[in-house]
Amino acid sequence: PANSVLFSMIQPTGRLHLGNYLGAINNWKDLQQSQSEGCTYIYGIADLHAITAPSKAEELRRNRHEVVASILAAGLDENKCILYQQSSVPEHTELSWVLTCLTSIGQLNRMTQWKSKSLQAASSSIFDDKVLGNTKAGLLCYPVLQAADILLYKSTHVPVGDDQTQHLELCRSIASTFNHTYQAGFFPLPKTLLTPSKKILSLRDPSKKMSKSDPDPSACIYVTDDPKAIMQKVRRAVTDSVQGPITFDPENRPGVSNMVNIIASLRNSTVEETASYLSFVKDHKQLKDVLSEFLIEEFKPKRHLFDKLLTDKSYIEQVCAKGTMKAREIASRNIASVKSVVGL
Ligand code: ADP
Ligand code: NA
Repeated sequence: PANSVLFSMIQPTGRLHLGNYLGAINNWKDLQQSQSEGCTYIYGIADLHAITAPSKAEELRRNRHEVVASILAAGLDENKCILYQQSSVPEHTELSWVLTCLTSIGQLNRMTQWKSKSLQAASSSIFDDKVLGNTKAGLLCYPVLQAADILLYKSTHVPVGDDQTQHLELCRSIASTFNHTYQAGFFPLPKTLLTPSKKILSLRDPSKKMSKSDPDPSACIYVTDDPKAIMQKVRRAVTDSVQGPITFDPENRPGVSNMVNIIASLRNSTVEETASYLSFVKDHKQLKDVLSEFLIEEFKPKRHLFDKLLTDKSYIEQVCAKGTMKAREIASRNIASVKSVVGL
């Protein structure tokens, strides 16, 4: 709708995989194509979020660069949106502090992602004071920074996967606290725009989602994989021993259903229609061949563009510099009025 501000981010923590592509980037692209007059699209690379999991400086630098190259290669039009690195807009951290002062520790403790991530960080199965004592505060405060990211642009809509629903609820709660404390109606309460495509699962273990943090690279299809890699990974993917027609039955046939879901997303169709489209498929091997073919077709042109962009560092920097300028225009204006209503 007109006058709406759409905002979303992706972390530069590793190569983009099929889940990021279908669950986020492709959706950003579709939203952009259905662009309505007066609507602003803001997409950020969440590099400040990425440092909650420590990595080497040159690795982070490479990931920051690669993720922009992947997004552009995937087909996002940088002229129709604001694309930038979060850390280049210092107003994110400025607003984050103001919001931290309005957020209770109890609210943050209830975040399920914090619970699981802090346990992971401490590689422990006990959630007690000793474990918490060693866990970094950045992990706890991460959702406040995320709320600041969104509210900094007075965003009205946030397209995300369903793993982010709880964080978005917290964001709205922090926005209401701010409005209640300082000025009624200051921040709009941003709506969650759930990504239409279903979650993409690991090829090796379809009880888990496909994730950048998966240590097994054969569990993920990366947007930069070449046809040979795609075929190898798909061939090794876990299916089941059910004979007969291909069906979409996530409960009993998670591996096969994941494949149907991926093909459906690539065909811009529903899982039901795709399952019947696949009625010519005789066995799992043929299903895998069909899936490989769709993936190879989808990523062929993108891979060439990606390879080109990777070597064109100055182009990527130029895109981000332009995005930063536009982002800061909005951010500096909004942070000035935040300070004014707070009394800073
Ligand atoms: P990851 O979990 O791989 O580190 P991020 O946390 O950076 O990915 O998520 C970036 C975006 O990609 C989010 O909008 C998230 O909902 C989406 N996403 C991540 N993994 C998947 C998946 N397996 N299926 C669908 N969407 C996903
Ligand atoms: Na994630």
